[in-house]
Amino acid sequence: MIILGIETSCDETAAAIIEGKNGDIKILSNVISSQIEIHKKYGGVIPEVAAREHVLNILPVINEALKKAKKNAPSLILPLARGGEKINQPQLSVFKPYSPFIRGRLRGGKKISAIAVTVGPGLITSLQVGVETAKTLAYAWNIPIISINHIEGHIYANFIGKLKTKIEFPALILTVSGGHNLLVLMKGHGQYKIIGETIDDAAGEAFDKGAAMLRLGYPGGPEISKYAEKYKLPLIKGSKIILPRPMIYSKDYNFSFSGLKTALLYKLQKDPQWKKRIPEYASEFESAITDVLIYKTIKAAKALNVKTIMLSGGVSANKKLRLSLASAVLREFKNIKFYVPDLKYTTDNAVMIAVAGYYNALNKKITPPSKLKTSPNLELKSN
Ligand code: KG4
Ligand code: ZN
Repeated sequence: MIILGIETSCDETAAAIIEGKNGDIKILSNVISSQIEIHKKYGGVIPEVAAREHVLNILPVINEALKKAKKNAPSLILPLARGGEKINQPQLSVFKPYSPFIRGRLRGGKKISAIAVTVGPGLITSLQVGVETAKTLAYAWNIPIISINHIEGHIYANFIGKLKTKIEFPALILTVSGGHNLLVLMKGHGQYKIIGETIDDAAGEAFDKGAAMLRLGYPGGPEISKYAEKYKLPLIKGSKIILPRPMIYSKDYNFSFSGLKTALLYKLQKDPQWKKRIPEYASEFESAITDVLIYKTIKAAKALNVKTIMLSGGVSANKKLRLSLASAVLREFKNIKFYVPDLKYTTDNAVMIAVAGYYNALNKKITPPSKLKTSPNLELKSN
């Protein structure tokens, strides 16, 4: 089954083509056009600007994904008209249908079987660009659509690659990005139960806001991480900065990161020398976030008796979180396996959407194009 994945929920326009066969996933192409350089100037994503960029980028990105996939799998029949490969306007060529004359050529060749597209959660105007494009292509190519929850996509970033398809259930997933912060119990493919969530900001949002307070760049997570790594030696005894670990000992599995941000602000306001201590502030801020995430994940894994723990979402790119959670799992459990996506699949991409689409399609989860709509506040529910 060959699937085209499309992702436009925030500030990355992404398209990817994968081939799934008996649980093995082959990535034929993975194209991402990032808007980070544009949004950096404003210190965050401006929805209007993001949507306009998606409109400009979506068709060239899909076109490139199609062409790269063809290179990697020459038997792939592209949905182009005769001579379509030579069309100078890439924006138009993708809209050529799988026309009858290529039907003959389909013998021995492979066709794209379905389109998987992110329908939510995310910025409504950004989501709309991906969803409307997917609808139009599905009509033109006469193939089905699979609607994907962005969070489910992040979870499925762990299923990219052959060995990882053997993941055993029940699995506990800590999925953390700029927009969501969840502990999820996954009993099988498409079977989710939310165990814990943030009651205010997501950890990625806290990283972004904390970085802005420290006058570091956007996105904040990688910046905080970069400065934190520079902090090696403790300063004079007694002067160490200490931030709270919000809700770490609460009885539930929920999180809260907005108070941490305020605590950082107060510390900075009281410290005229803060600009000289950015690495120390960054290190303590990063530790405060990762300590809470790790503590609650281990606690939930103990209570729920899971076989697997997985990390996902943009914040799973954080080196400290990846390493510390891996060693906590090793220290605390003998038989629990730990997975984390390859770095390139941690932040938004369309491979994860296509892979989630593949597993949804195996469960016959197809949405008629006429019923497909964006859902900016979509919650993670079982399929
Ligand atoms: O999944 P993602 O690309 O977009 C959303 O769905 O939100 O996640 C982006 C978030 C941003 O908040 C960014 O600061 C955070 O992930 N992030 C990181 C790192 N890389 C990205 N946070 C901490 N450390 C990182 N290395
Ligand atoms: Zn994301």
